[in-house]
Amino acid sequence: MSYQAEYQRSIEQPAEFWAEQAKALPWFKAPQDILTQDNEGIYHWFDDGEMNTAYMAVDYHVENGRGDQPAIIYDSPVSNSKSVLTYAQLQEQVSLFAGVLKAQGVEKGDRVVVYMPMITEAVVAMLAIARLGAIHSVVFGGFAPHELAVRIEDAEPKLIVTASCGIEVAKVIEYKPLVDKAIELSAHKPECCVVLQRPQAKAAMHEGMDIDWAEAMAKATPADCVAVKGTDPLYILYTSGTTGKPKGVVRENGGHAVALKYSMTAVYDMQPGEVFWAASDVGWVVGHSYIVYGPLLHGCTTVVYEGKPVRTPDAGAFWRMVDEYKIKALFAAPTAFRAIRKEDPEAAEINKYDISSLKTIFMAGERLDPPTYLWTVDKTGKPVVDHWWQTETGWAICANLMGIEPKPAKPGSSTLPTPGFNVQVLDARGNELPAGEQGAIAIKLPLPPSCLATIWGDFERFKSGYLSDFPGYYCSGDGGYKDDEGYVFIMGRTDDVINVAGHRLSTGEMEEILAAHDAVAECSVIGVHDALKGQEPVGLVLLKDGYDIDEDDLQKELVAMVRKEIGPIACFKRAVVVPRLPKTRSGKILRKLLRQIASNQEVAVPSTIDDPASVPEIEAIMKEQGLVKEGTD
Ligand code: COA
Ligand code: AMP
Repeated sequence: MSYQAEYQRSIEQPAEFWAEQAKALPWFKAPQDILTQDNEGIYHWFDDGEMNTAYMAVDYHVENGRGDQPAIIYDSPVSNSKSVLTYAQLQEQVSLFAGVLKAQGVEKGDRVVVYMPMITEAVVAMLAIARLGAIHSVVFGGFAPHELAVRIEDAEPKLIVTASCGIEVAKVIEYKPLVDKAIELSAHKPECCVVLQRPQAKAAMHEGMDIDWAEAMAKATPADCVAVKGTDPLYILYTSGTTGKPKGVVRENGGHAVALKYSMTAVYDMQPGEVFWAASDVGWVVGHSYIVYGPLLHGCTTVVYEGKPVRTPDAGAFWRMVDEYKIKALFAAPTAFRAIRKEDPEAAEINKYDISSLKTIFMAGERLDPPTYLWTVDKTGKPVVDHWWQTETGWAICANLMGIEPKPAKPGSSTLPTPGFNVQVLDARGNELPAGEQGAIAIKLPLPPSCLATIWGDFERFKSGYLSDFPGYYCSGDGGYKDDEGYVFIMGRTDDVINVAGHRLSTGEMEEILAAHDAVAECSVIGVHDALKGQEPVGLVLLKDGYDIDEDDLQKELVAMVRKEIGPIACFKRAVVVPRLPKTRSGKILRKLLRQIASNQEVAVPSTIDDPASVPEIEAIMKEQGLVKEGTD
């Protein structure tokens, strides 16, 4: 099949194209309204279809002969345990846990927050919520109570599902006290909390509020799948925006299932029955789409890995997994491969394992720098696919379609737009730019299935954040260019979002935290190049007049504040005191200019600048402090 023909049809006849893809799924009632627009002009997919995503991902496969096939492989070097759940066992667990939730009054449309480590039960919980037609909101375990509280307050869950602890390399992190603290901080109080007790830590339970997972499962009555409409929400996943308040991306059931099912063959070249491993976390979109829903909707075996690419116990972890489970496709963030490369530059660990089952390595979550790309290709001998996507889309916007027509790869490029995504590069006025010119990456509407149609509880933010900059387009927040063969090169965010170890973080949120320190008059947090994690956040801080504080002490206090408010995952470790920050005459800090200095780009000094001399001054300080990216990759 030719990529061009497939892509062209998806753009010229979107409804026909996606109606056909929808037939690959077992709907309760097949959709007739394929692509519709609501009163606000927002596009939706498969509105009148009736379905249940958990049914499609689990029960359907049991009914069709996959009951004995492994559905989930759990491998946890940090707890020294492994297990396998077949599709039939998964169906049993999911329907029982749905029974637990139902007994607590969870109904269609209710929200349930899941705050769990990478264990099989996290997937069971998500599917059980989906089974009831309820809406899950999974919060990554590396977030602190404040972040969890913000999400609880916004999603207003009826219930929270958690575990007694997560395990990070050699340390046990107790989750329950974090959940208790978050509930205390949140104005919205969930009615109850289901707690999975793990052997590594025993959570203190609150009478009348907390329910023990194992006890509840032992006496649960299985619950049936509840039919939902194609446009009913499956989940809310919070992601960082430019302000302190995260954005609740709402994923609709129908479009999500259709796009993911299609992607499993088109992008990943997977057949039902094969083993797919996304080495991410269920707290991120990659985990939602390709640890849980994509592989299961396709009847594949998925892998839940509770460990790191290195140190659990060594840099051979990925290759050991491939060998042990005969993994066909491995998907991870470039940071993971940079970590492996750092510890095992010659990839000597690969020689200890048989990685012949591995056909392709996929990378996303952050820019795949050419040296990491070339190293991985060289050392593994496997094709490496860089694909670009976002929480908002739920699947790849650009990719090399391994199941349609693999194209020659170009280092630094995520290849070509995926079917359904009409990707354009625009100048500031919204004009399409010619090949080679860098601009804002935007996607012409309608977006294909699975992409967000609103922000939970804040439709205005959805419109202003994504649809207002370029009417008729979705604004991605990424900048980049296309070459003369249409290959897309994503160069980085054009807003105050940074990417640390493939984790998306808001510098605006960190600034709000730093600004709360008594000594801080003003500040700016920028993403600075980091050889391992891609970027790391660094605070440029202006002290209040006459405030006397040792700079090391200040840094320690600011680091502790960010860790407490956002969590360890923010990786905020540096704050530099500066005499002034470049600003406009109206007093706005020129963050874009700081970003340009940090990434060693040409600096565009706006005419509205208050004091032009502040630019060379801050440039010199940033260079001296090692905050300017050196060279190019
Ligand atoms: N629960 C609690 N804490 C967590 C956590 C979780 N689920 N995940 C990470 N943390 C903590 C870590 O323990 C660490 O804490 P510390 O500052 O006390 O040491 C901090 O958050 C930063 O974590 P991380 O970014 O994972 O750094 P690391 O040094 O522990 O590991 C890598 C470095 C490169 C191995 C790791 O970042 C990695 O595996 N990256 C791949 C990223 C990835 O898969 N992203 C998914 C997007 S697709
Ligand atoms: P998230 O929503 O957490 O998946 O983060 C999405 C952001 O990560 C995008 O907007 C990009 O900035 C970045 N990103 C993801 N994948 C890639 C990629 N393949 N190349 C470049 N940037 C990427």
